Amino acid sequence: EGGKLWGGRFTGATDPVMEAFNASIGYDKRMWKADIEGSQAYVKSLQKVGIVTAEECQTIIQGLDKVKEEWMNGCFEIKPQDEDIHTANERRLKELVGVVGGKLHTGRSRNDQVATDMRLWLGDAVLSLRGHLVSLLSVMCRRAEAELDVLMPGYTHLQRAQPIRWSHWLMSYAWMVHRDVQRLDQLRERVLTLPLGSGALAGNPFNVDRQFLRQELGMSSVSQNSLDAVSDRDFVVEFLFWASLLSIHLSRWAEDLVLYSTKEFAFITLSDAYSTGSSLMPQKKNSDSLELIRGKSGRIYGNCCGFMMSLKGIPSTYNKDLQEDKEAMFDTYDTLMGVLQVATGVLSTLKIDRKAMEEALSPDMLATDLAYYLVKKGKPFRDAHSIAGECVALAEKKGCILSDLSLEDMKTVNNLFEEDVASVWNYSHSVDQYSAEGGTAASSVKEQISALSAWLASN
Ligand code: ARG
Repeated sequence: EGGKLWGGRFTGATDPVMEAFNASIGYDKRMWKADIEGSQAYVKSLQKVGIVTAEECQTIIQGLDKVKEEWMNGCFEIKPQDEDIHTANERRLKELVGVVGGKLHTGRSRNDQVATDMRLWLGDAVLSLRGHLVSLLSVMCRRAEAELDVLMPGYTHLQRAQPIRWSHWLMSYAWMVHRDVQRLDQLRERVLTLPLGSGALAGNPFNVDRQFLRQELGMSSVSQNSLDAVSDRDFVVEFLFWASLLSIHLSRWAEDLVLYSTKEFAFITLSDAYSTGSSLMPQKKNSDSLELIRGKSGRIYGNCCGFMMSLKGIPSTYNKDLQEDKEAMFDTYDTLMGVLQVATGVLSTLKIDRKAMEEALSPDMLATDLAYYLVKKGKPFRDAHSIAGECVALAEKKGCILSDLSLEDMKTVNNLFEEDVASVWNYSHSVDQYSAEGGTAASSVKEQISALSAWLASN
């Protein structure tokens, strides 16, 4: 029947709409390389158990090399009956080497084949993503180092809270991304589990050496249950979870920078390379790059949730629903490749306005420091907090800023205040108190930068 791999028992033709509905070649063709490598390893394992002769094995391997070349040169011709990449490669192989090509699929199913192809493809894909994450981290560290002395307001509830270093803000996201790289390395190990040799579901009846297959394909372990091996799409879901968490981090990062680039904050200016204008308002410079990073996170969560919904009610082993795994995986990968490169571009080219950042600091942000001043004079923190609060209220009542209260005024609140209270009104002094590990003091920020730089140097 129409040269279909499974045509033997059929007499009727497939509805053309069904044909298109069923086909995955349009997107799974991007796994051509993994598919060929999987087949080359598999035919070797067939030779080891005597299903093909050494000569037949050579013929098939060389035939597959030719198919590979056609893909590489962009001249592989997809035929209408090529349902998916597995069908297409096998059809072409048989055209090139003749009937012996029909021995390749002995004991194998597209079920163990597709799971193998996807794992091989994803194993490489996550390495490309990893490279871009490392570049982003390098830019974060480099900037943090170069701009260590720049101060800015730190926010909670989007209200000015305490002075911090700009570098400290930069590094906060670097640590999130760093954990994402660690998680990536961990999930890659699980991605590289070999399903090949599980057949359609029951296993392999020719006793192929699966450890040999694992080694040939550079994978890290062999699946231990054939039903699980062809059912399992955990590795796709895990990648999608991972991508979602990374997107959360990058979306929040982008949101901070969108705010910082407004005239109201004016802490940063994006380079023209990553901004766009308005077709109506000539003065506009919009942060489209960052908005898209934020926006595309929604698409990535959508891929994750959508595929989980497809998975949740599927009965045991392979069902065609599983074919939905691919677009979720490819789209997430493609989206992240764009997001990461743009994020790195944005961060390496934006300009900061250190004056605007420092002018945004206000003495009320040192109210905590005022309380610490009293703590150093022996007051319990709870009382000190309340006294400093009374000073804030007094300044508000007098309509002046906190640091403009006179010593006499402050003494009316509490007589522990002395001349040296003037030393509180100093932002650099303020940030450098936070010298415990992980704080915003220059010494601590330098330490985090060197810790992450050391990690980067070995990555
Ligand atoms: N194109 C299919 C997929 O992506 C390959 C596996 C087909 N297996 C089957 N039993 N129909 O899932």
